[in-house]
Amino acid sequence: MAVARPLSWVLLTSLAVTTWLHVVEAQPSPKVQKRISSAIRAAANSTNIDYTKFVNVFIGTDNFGDVCPGASVPFGMVKFSTDLTGYAPAGYVTDATQKIRGLSPLHDSGTGSSLGTYGNFEIMPLVCPGGFDTCTTTLEKRERFRKNNTDDASPGYFSQTLDNDIQMEATSTRRAGLERFTFPKGSKPYFVLDLTNDLPASFAGGSMDIDPAKGRITLGGLWGSSFGPTSLNYQAYACFDLLDGGKQKLDEFGVWRGNQVYRYGLDAKGLGLTNIHLNRSLIGDQYQSGALFSFSGSPKQINIRVGVSFVSTAQACQNAEEEVGDASFEDIMGRSQALWNEKLSKIEIDVTNTPANVTELLYSSLYRASLTPNNATGETQGVFAGTTHPYFDSLYCSWDTFRTYYPLMSLHSPVEFAQIVDSYIDGWRKNGWMPECRANNLPGWTQGGSSADNIVGHFAINYHNEASKLGIDVNELYSAMLADGELNPAQWDVQGRQINVYKQYGFVPFSVLDVTSTGRQTRESSRTMEYAFEDFAIRQVAQLLRKPEDVATFSNRSLFYRNVFDPSVTSDGFKGFAQKRFPNGTFSFTDPSDCSPNDKSDSRECSLQGDNEVGFYESSSWEYSWFAPHDTAHLITLMGGNDTFVKRLDHFFNAGYYLAGNEPSFQTPIGYHYANRPSHSVDRVRQIVFNNFDITPAGLPGNDDQAAMATLLVFHLLGLYPVPSTSQFLVLSPFTPKYTIHNSFLNSSTTVTAKNFDPRSVKKKIPEGVAAYVKKVTINGKKAESRCHFDFYDTFRLGGDVEIELVPDGESVDSCDGSLPESLSTGGWLTTR
Ligand SMILES: *[C@@H]1O[C@H](CO)[C@@H](O)[C@H](O)[C@H]1NC(C)=O
Ligand SMILES: *[C@@H]1O[C@H](CO)[C@@H](O)[C@H](O)[C@H]1NC(C)=O
Ligand SMILES: *[C@@H]1O[C@H](CO)[C@@H](O)[C@H](O)[C@H]1NC(C)=O
Ligand SMILES: *[C@@H]1O[C@H](CO)[C@@H](O)[C@H](O)[C@H]1NC(C)=O
Ligand SMILES: *[C@@H]1O[C@H](CO)[C@@H](O)[C@H](O)[C@H]1NC(C)=O
Ligand SMILES: *[C@@H]1O[C@H](CO)[C@@H](O)[C@H](O)[C@H]1NC(C)=O
Ligand SMILES: *[C@@H]1O[C@H](CO)[C@@H](O)[C@H](O)[C@H]1NC(C)=O
Ligand SMILES: *[C@@H]1O[C@H](CO)[C@@H](O)[C@H](O)[C@H]1NC(C)=O
Ligand SMILES: *[C@@H]1O[C@H](CO)[C@@H](O)[C@H](O)[C@H]1NC(C)=O
Repeated sequence: MAVARPLSWVLLTSLAVTTWLHVVEAQPSPKVQKRISSAIRAAANSTNIDYTKFVNVFIGTDNFGDVCPGASVPFGMVKFSTDLTGYAPAGYVTDATQKIRGLSPLHDSGTGSSLGTYGNFEIMPLVCPGGFDTCTTTLEKRERFRKNNTDDASPGYFSQTLDNDIQMEATSTRRAGLERFTFPKGSKPYFVLDLTNDLPASFAGGSMDIDPAKGRITLGGLWGSSFGPTSLNYQAYACFDLLDGGKQKLDEFGVWRGNQVYRYGLDAKGLGLTNIHLNRSLIGDQYQSGALFSFSGSPKQINIRVGVSFVSTAQACQNAEEEVGDASFEDIMGRSQALWNEKLSKIEIDVTNTPANVTELLYSSLYRASLTPNNATGETQGVFAGTTHPYFDSLYCSWDTFRTYYPLMSLHSPVEFAQIVDSYIDGWRKNGWMPECRANNLPGWTQGGSSADNIVGHFAINYHNEASKLGIDVNELYSAMLADGELNPAQWDVQGRQINVYKQYGFVPFSVLDVTSTGRQTRESSRTMEYAFEDFAIRQVAQLLRKPEDVATFSNRSLFYRNVFDPSVTSDGFKGFAQKRFPNGTFSFTDPSDCSPNDKSDSRECSLQGDNEVGFYESSSWEYSWFAPHDTAHLITLMGGNDTFVKRLDHFFNAGYYLAGNEPSFQTPIGYHYANRPSHSVDRVRQIVFNNFDITPAGLPGNDDQAAMATLLVFHLLGLYPVPSTSQFLVLSPFTPKYTIHNSFLNSSTTVTAKNFDPRSVKKKIPEGVAAYVKKVTINGKKAESRCHFDFYDTFRLGGDVEIELVPDGESVDSCDGSLPESLSTGGWLTTR
């Protein structure tokens, strides 16, 4: 979770599951689910499938999922959505008690931030019966409720109707799009366009120009980060073309300005004025300002073309001209759907025999897996201005996405993955370290260190043979990793790590005197554990590049997670927990349940706050103590052996310490594999999916975290789990009888068949006698060496067939029947392939 909220996130999470869920049930329009269900029914036995019809873009728009249901192309820089009042980081929320501020082109999806992200350039259609001077331009005056039960959206399309019956629709290209407004019969269309207000209320100066003859408004300025230092600003620009190629005629136009809060009095309009220039308010005020215009006659429908740019207003206009031109709304929507189908069809399932909810969950998750990060290639600013490399905005945050998001992309989209990896490396080229949490084109807050290492590491391990063809120099990639692993940045709050003290002590000490580098000295235990796994990624690439000394150094450092393990701490009868530690080696006690869902305190700070005293980031010691994905075998020893480990896992889930929505917990349900009890993992994953995910707007256990949750769910449904920075997959029980993953770059297609699949097994608790447990894995006709894992190089890289044979009796197959998944301390990861 990338969360910085006024309340503790633990409080919000429990709120989310208890009360919030039941407040709202009116959105979206009931016809959305009806349409999806009938498309899934109709697709049975059909060959030419439109996968966009299976996507429910509203999943995660309630219960703090922070998903943006707006109109976007894959990785679009533009995502058109309405912005609502209240807690709505992605703009839209289903909560019908919130009001609509306007429709706007820039959003992120699935990112938690206290006030929201982007939301610049809102437009709001108005009816002003008293004429221009009476129009409601400021936020408080123009905000309106929606017409309940009418919100509609699908890939490439967004629609919402106001309670005065004005419908707002949008469709988009990468950097531009069309907005369409339908007015009730006989009303004169007025519009307010907002120059200053974004969701986080961060305006820091800008200007706007109206060209009435051309029917064009250009505007732009500076705004602030949603999850980073408030001292930094980014620039953004937009270009609004109002005449629909001459089919529409402007009537009145002018500018307006108001106080941030209307009751202080300023609410002025200037009919006929065409410019406004506003500077940053040094005293700290926010003000509201923008354009106001109307159209001649009483046209029922108004089409407005919008271009955006992070470079200039001229480029914003050019983007609209090049990407939209004079294409119709239906044309742009059709092109967007075609792009989405291309992405969604990379994974094809046996729709006929898959439970309908699984189909909807899978394709809705795959949709979000290509919704972000935002492709802002050619739209760069600051140190990236004019870079010749691809550029992606909203890497928000790498701590969230390295575990499942990039491993999923790695299966089917190496070209896109390589572009994003290049953008990470470009961070190192331009800033000296790779980005951890790029938000709004600015450096955002670091969570666990330099998780980019695990992202570029995963790419190198899986695609080093193809890297140069994909535009990546693995040696350069390694140099970028080494900078993260060896050099202290001046401020490790925004990039890199506090590497000096970590190397000196073998862990990040609590209360250490650091005279050379700056950062908030909290989260010592979790930073040590994440730094160690980042070192494992460096070790993996060092091995690939045959650098034995580096392999020794970074293998050693990857075991530093052990140094924060206090064997003497007990909780609920279990012994040995991660703890923060003083420089002299003495542990500083934290109750392992602090910051867990079982924490008795509802005021404890658990996130980035300076008074987070527990030593962990957004987690408890109960939760983070499981985190050593590269060396679980040794974790088992630390925790007292296989039987105790299994009992402790059971207790962790049964006693309620597990948080499905939190990234450090992603691999924990499959921990049983490492204790040679894979059937237990199958049971646990079924339970987790049904307890935490469904097809409703509240169907995510919290923040989607830039599709980290979506991609975790995809892996659960496919019966796979990736070990990051390796080519190993853990094998589980698929929720679908058959799926094919296409990798058009490798020219490979791999079909995974779940032999004996029984749809009755797709339940929270697998019924007695129903096949669901893995007995045998066969890869291209040959029995695999283990039931518990297989390798990318033997399967998806080559293509062909994988058969997972399922049986009803979990006990009879509750062992790996061959090798366990790898761990460093038991001789694992000896070779990279
Ligand atoms: C799909 O085909 C199967 C087998 O041919 C048949 O039993 C089933 O009724 C068909 N389903 C639909 C929805 O047409
Ligand atoms: C829509 O529903 C919400 C929540 O029930 C309610 O507060 C609001 O008044 C309704 N709006 C309209 C226009 O009926
Ligand atoms: C604010 O004013 C200064 C001084 O006139 C000027 O240099 C700067 O460009 C202005 N900033 C904006 C965003 O207009
Ligand atoms: C990003 O945009 C650039 C420029 O249009 C394009 O070449 C590239 O393929 C896009 N990448 C992705 C992942 O969408
Ligand atoms: C591993 O790290 C420890 C602690 O920093 C150090 O004492 C030891 O010499 C290292 N071993 C190797 C093989 O580098
Ligand atoms: C280590 O330092 C801490 C904090 O200063 C102190 O409480 C503890 O007693 C010290 N341990 C030893 C063994 O000196
Ligand atoms: C756990 O079980 C595995 C497989 O049976 C065995 O190889 C391993 O040594 C055991 N681990 C411990 C710590 O006993
Ligand atoms: C599908 O999901 C909906 C919404 O969560 C739920 O009401 C329904 O019971 C589910 N259907 C099945 C067959 O699981
Ligand atoms: C995939 O096939 C195309 C066309 O046959 C070929 O040009 C390309 O080199 C192949 N890619 C790989 C990775 O083999």
